[in-house]
Amino acid sequence: MFSGASNFVQGVDTAFVFIISIAAFFLIGITIVMVWFVFRYSRQRNPVASDIPGNNTLEIIWTLIPTILVLAMFWVGFKGFMPMRSFPEDAKTIRVLSRMWSWTFEYPNGKRSTELYLQVNDTVILDMVSEDVLHSLYIPAFRVKEDVVPGRTNRMWFVPQLVGTYDLYCAEYCGLLHAQMITKVNVLEPDDFAEWYESDIDPSAMGFEEAGYEAMQIHGCFTCHSTDGTQRVGSTFLDLYGSTVEVVAGGRTRSRLVDDDYIRRKTFDPNQEVRVGYTPGLMPSYRDQISNEEMANMIIYLKSISKYGR
Ligand code: CUA
Repeated sequence: MFSGASNFVQGVDTAFVFIISIAAFFLIGITIVMVWFVFRYSRQRNPVASDIPGNNTLEIIWTLIPTILVLAMFWVGFKGFMPMRSFPEDAKTIRVLSRMWSWTFEYPNGKRSTELYLQVNDTVILDMVSEDVLHSLYIPAFRVKEDVVPGRTNRMWFVPQLVGTYDLYCAEYCGLLHAQMITKVNVLEPDDFAEWYESDIDPSAMGFEEAGYEAMQIHGCFTCHSTDGTQRVGSTFLDLYGSTVEVVAGGRTRSRLVDDDYIRRKTFDPNQEVRVGYTPGLMPSYRDQISNEEMANMIIYLKSISKYGR
């Protein structure tokens, strides 16, 4: 059986080879016909041009065949792409924090690294956030690439299938040192991975959730917002992320999904929209006070205490 560095190699490569084969067939075929026409219908051999008024059979053939080919290319590509967007239930989630110009990976046990460490044949989901601008996580050997967009969490998943070391790039131009936003993916045997995973955990290093909680404490968020469902001056943070809330915006009531973007807007420009039932003007703007890294961690914390969050 064909095997690649990840479970997506086969689907992507099949589509690539299929499409490039069709393209090559037509490139060569059309070029040969063109050259042959130049000789066959030159003025010497064919001095009087003939007018062909129409040919229904030809019309049908050159409509039908390309339609079938294009649909076939779509289908082969779609079959390779769809599995990437249907996420597995039981997978290890690794958090990815990107910034100009480096990557940080955080594992379920709180361990962090700047290179990505994976166990062979162990399904992983990457939950990716950006502290600043648009980045894109790209592992060519695995045939996976996904933008990391500030203001939202993008995800990708895959199964690394071959032990080895692979390149991981940023594939979205993100400023001066974009080209150096490179790191490695290390796919290890289970024993080697376990050894790495359990070793050198810095007990003082904070996970993203914990860092988010601490940032909220520092900025005094809990004075007005509870984390246990208790109503205070502001809404509770419990089960907030991912829920739908009613806000008053421009004199009208609207529904809003509480996502990364909503949290940012409410933090930096809190009185533009106020939730129904709450008093406008009570919350100050935290623009220039809360850093991008703090914001990213806070959002991770909010997700961790919401039954809707991911
Ligand atoms: Cu990050 Cu380019």
